[in-house]
Amino acid sequence: MTSPTRREFLGGAFVLMSAASIRLPLWARAVANVAAAPSGGQILLGVDYYPDQTPEALWEEDSRMMSDMGFTNVRIAEFAWALMEPSEGKFEFGWLHRAIQILHKHNIGVILGTPSAAPPPWLSAKYPDIFEVNAQGQRLRPGGRRFTCPTNPVYRKLSLVIATQMAKKFGETEGVIGWQIDNELTLGSSLRCYCNFCQVGFQNWLRTRYSTLDNLNQSWGTVFWSQTYSDFSQIPVPLLSGGDPNPGLALDYDRYQSYANTSFTEEQLAMLRQMCPTHFVTTNNVGLVDTIDMRDLYAKLDFAAFDNYPGFFDMLTAQEGKSPLPEGIASTISLGHDLARSVKGGEPFMIMEEQSGKAGQKTFAPQPETGQVRLWTYQGVAHGAMGINYFRWDTATFGAEQYWHGILNHDRSKSPAYEEIRQTVKELKALGQEVLYSQYAAQTALVFDYDCSWAVKIQPGHYALDYMTQVTSWYGAISASHTGIDVIAPEADLSPYKIVFAPLAYLMSEKQAAKIKSFVQAGGMFVTNFRLGVKTESSQIVRTPLPGLLRDVMGVTVADYIPIYSAKNAVKFAPGLAGPDGECGLWTDILQPTGAEVLASYTKGSHAGEAAITMNTVGSGKAVYIGADLDAASLARVLRTLSGLAGVKPPLEVPPGIELTVRRAGDKQWIFVLNHTSVSQSVSIPKTFTDLLTGGTHTGKVDVSGYGVRVLQGA
Ligand code: GLA
Ligand code: ZN
Repeated sequence: MTSPTRREFLGGAFVLMSAASIRLPLWARAVANVAAAPSGGQILLGVDYYPDQTPEALWEEDSRMMSDMGFTNVRIAEFAWALMEPSEGKFEFGWLHRAIQILHKHNIGVILGTPSAAPPPWLSAKYPDIFEVNAQGQRLRPGGRRFTCPTNPVYRKLSLVIATQMAKKFGETEGVIGWQIDNELTLGSSLRCYCNFCQVGFQNWLRTRYSTLDNLNQSWGTVFWSQTYSDFSQIPVPLLSGGDPNPGLALDYDRYQSYANTSFTEEQLAMLRQMCPTHFVTTNNVGLVDTIDMRDLYAKLDFAAFDNYPGFFDMLTAQEGKSPLPEGIASTISLGHDLARSVKGGEPFMIMEEQSGKAGQKTFAPQPETGQVRLWTYQGVAHGAMGINYFRWDTATFGAEQYWHGILNHDRSKSPAYEEIRQTVKELKALGQEVLYSQYAAQTALVFDYDCSWAVKIQPGHYALDYMTQVTSWYGAISASHTGIDVIAPEADLSPYKIVFAPLAYLMSEKQAAKIKSFVQAGGMFVTNFRLGVKTESSQIVRTPLPGLLRDVMGVTVADYIPIYSAKNAVKFAPGLAGPDGECGLWTDILQPTGAEVLASYTKGSHAGEAAITMNTVGSGKAVYIGADLDAASLARVLRTLSGLAGVKPPLEVPPGIELTVRRAGDKQWIFVLNHTSVSQSVSIPKTFTDLLTGGTHTGKVDVSGYGVRVLQGA
C-alpha cells in the first residue's frame, strides 16, 4: 500500500477533521479547499517577526498588536542559528517555544525559518572550508550572511542537523503551520562558488549528465585549445585561466550551481516532509535573478514565496545608473510576480516579504507615499498572490539593516503605513479565499529561459547585451496591453496562449522548436528577435544557416549578425507596422526572407533596404522575427500591434499609469484596477460592476484615486 501523497493526506484529514469540527492549520484547509473546490484555502496574512532580536518582555505586547492588526501568521527564526545552537550539538529552543506559545495564544500561526543562510561564528571558526570561493578565487569571510558553499558536505550536514532538531522540537507544536527553508538562496555578494568541493561536485554531476567522457568531450568540443579530458577529475571550475572558458563547460557550471542550491534545499525538504507531514514548506527568493532555475527550486515545494520591495528596487535602479523602464518600476515588479506565479505553473504564490516602510541597508529608499504600501500589496494579489507577509514587524536598532524599516519605528511607535496595512489586511480578509486562491487569466506568454540568460552572459556578442534586460524591456512593452502574461519555461505548453514572446532565444532545443512550430501551425503568433537559435543545448553553434532549427517556421535566413558600436542603423516600417522610423540599439540581424513578408527594412549602411522585421505565415499562425534591437518606443508599438493582430484584448481600455489584471474562479471573474500614479484617474466601463472593496456599484466609469485600487466584479 503506497503512503498517501501530502495532498491526499491533507485532503483526507480535512474531510475527517471537519466532520469532527477540529480546527485544521491554515494551509491544510487551503490545500483541501484548493484541491476540493475552486474557492481555495485561507489566506496567509502576516509579518516577519524577530523575537530573537526583541526583549522577551515585549513578545506579549507584540503578539497582541499583531493580532489586533488582523495578522494570521508570522515568519520567525530564519536568522537565529546562534541562539538555537550556541555551540555544536547543544540546542536551546526554550526561548523559541515560549515565543510560539505566546503567538499561538493570540491566534497567530508560525512559519519557522531554517537558519542555514547565516551560520553562527563557532561554526565558521571551526569549519572555515565552508566559505564560498568567488569568481576571483577569493574565499568569502563570515561576518555578513550567505557566505557559504552550496556543495560543502560539512555545511550541508550541519544545516540539516539544526533544521532536523527544530523539526523534532516543533513538528507537533500547536501554532506551527509551515516552514521556510533558508533565506534568499538567489542573493548574496557572490552568486557562484568555485571551491574544491564544488569542483568535485561538478565532476560528479557531469558523470551523471554525460555518463561517458566521449559524450562530454563531443558536447563541449574540448578538442579546441587541447582540452580533451581523459578523466572527469581533470575538469576544472571556470576560474581565471589566461583565456575564456569553454562555453559548454561554463554553461554546465551555471547549471551545476543551480542544481547544488536546489539539492541543498531538497535535503532539508525531505527531512521536513518526514517529520512535519502536515506543515507546508517553501523558500523565499527575489524574482528577477538568474542565480538558480526557480522552476527546479520550487518543483517539490508547496508554493512559491517571493520577496517584494518596489521602493528599494526603484532606488537600486537609480543607484545602478539604469534608466527605469518607460512603464516605470511597476512593470518590473509585475514581472517578478508573474514569474513567481509561473514557476509552479500558475499556482497562487505567497509574498513572504512585502515592503512596509523605508527600505535599504547602507543606502535606503524613502517612506512610500500614503497608499503605496496598500497598492503594492494589491499588485501582488492582482498577479496571483494568495498570501502576504510584511517585512518586518519592528525596525532593528542594531545590525546591518537598521534602516530597513518595519511596521513599528525604532522607538516602537506606529510607522506611517501602520493603519494602511491594518486596513489592507481587513480588506483582503473580506475578499476571502475564493478571490485569493483564484486563477490568474493570461492571454499571452513570455518565455524566460535560464539557459539563455547564462549562455548570453558567457558570450554576449555585444558587451552590453543582457538577457534579463531584454526580457524586462519586452515585458514592459507587452504589459501595457493589460492582457495578462505568464512567464513560461522554454519547453512549456504554448497552446493556452494566443501570442508567445521569446526575446533572445539564443539556445534552441529540438523539443522547444517543435513546440513553437506546432503552436504557429495551430494559429498562434510567435514573436522573437535577434540571435535566434544560434546555440545548441551544449552551447555549440548550429552548423546550419541561422536561425537554425526555426528557419522554416520563421521563413527567413540570417544573412549577417551585427553588434552595433559606432556604425548606427535604423529601420523604416512597412504599412503593417506603420509608424516613425525606429532606432537600432545594440544589435541587428540582417534577414533574408525565404517566404516571410517584410514588415520593416534597414535604412543605413551596407544593408540599407534589407529586411529587419519579417512575419511568416505557417498553417493558420504567424511567426515574427524582429532582427533589430529596437528603441523602447518602437518596440512597445510593434509588440502591442502584434498583440492586437493576435486578437488579445484588455478587459478595459485604461489611461497610462493604470494597471489591470483579471483573476477567475469558475464562472466568476474579478478585475483588479491599480493606479500607479499619484493623481486620481477615471476608467470607462462598458457595464455595471460591483466594487468588492466598497460594496458599491459603478456604471459608465470608475474613478481610482492616486495610488488607489479597485476590485471589480461583473454585476
Ligand atoms: C531580504 C531578506 C531579509 C532582509 C530583507 C530586507 O529580502 O530576505 O532577510 O534582508 O531583504 O533587507
Ligand atoms: Zn563551493
